[in-house]
Amino acid sequence: MSTGHGPTPSIDFDAPPADPVPVFERWFAEAQNLPTPNPNAMTLATIDPDGAPSARIVLLRGFSREGARFFTNRNSRKGRALAANARAALLFHWDLLDRQVRIEGRVSLATDAESDEYFAQRPVDSRVNAWASDQSEPVTNREELERRAAELTARFANREVPRPPHWGGYRVSLDRIEFWQGDKYRLHDRIAYTRQADGTYTATRLCP
Ligand SMILES: Cc1cc2nc3c(=O)[nH]c(=O)nc-3n(C[C@H](O)[C@H](O)[C@H](O)COP(=O)(O)O)c2cc1C
Repeated sequence: MSTGHGPTPSIDFDAPPADPVPVFERWFAEAQNLPTPNPNAMTLATIDPDGAPSARIVLLRGFSREGARFFTNRNSRKGRALAANARAALLFHWDLLDRQVRIEGRVSLATDAESDEYFAQRPVDSRVNAWASDQSEPVTNREELERRAAELTARFANREVPRPPHWGGYRVSLDRIEFWQGDKYRLHDRIAYTRQADGTYTATRLCP
């Protein structure tokens, strides 16, 4: 089996496995061993209602055959974009492994139960700040932000901070998933998996 030329053994790009899900899980597990603070950081690209693309980093918080999950404020710019056009692209770049993964798919809301479960695990200040920040809206200055946070901290003192109704998860389905492994002299390896109607994938090797 070819191991690629990356810093750790890679996939066999000439005879790729039929299922990309375990491949992602392995690459993600390897990324988690890196001396880097946010190996689960991914760029999330969406389409604004006027048709223009926009992108920002969010953290991967759950991955399965059903999709890649992240959490955010659903009233934010990205939330409004996804309400108008429920399609997204995700991008991971693990520089120390010379690897990139691209995911494209349709976006659905995580269930209330999933969002509640994840919200409840967050540190109390993060839960309060989910109420304090009108994500993506203008704010006069830092002082105004801190005033709102202090007000809400006092309001929630000695009681559970509930999940704001506008805060929750999204899941991007794995319609297309591409693995890229860097190699010498730009002769990189790429394999793109496309999901078929029956849930299986076709794998296509691409020129770098
Ligand atoms: C490392 C890192 C992780 C982030 N994780 C999240 C996240 O999980 N959810 C989130 O809403 N914003 C996260 N952000 C902030 C977003 O990049 C972005 O600024 C914010 O969500 C507002 O984006 P929007 O105005 O396009 O909706 C993160 C930023 C960085 C740099």
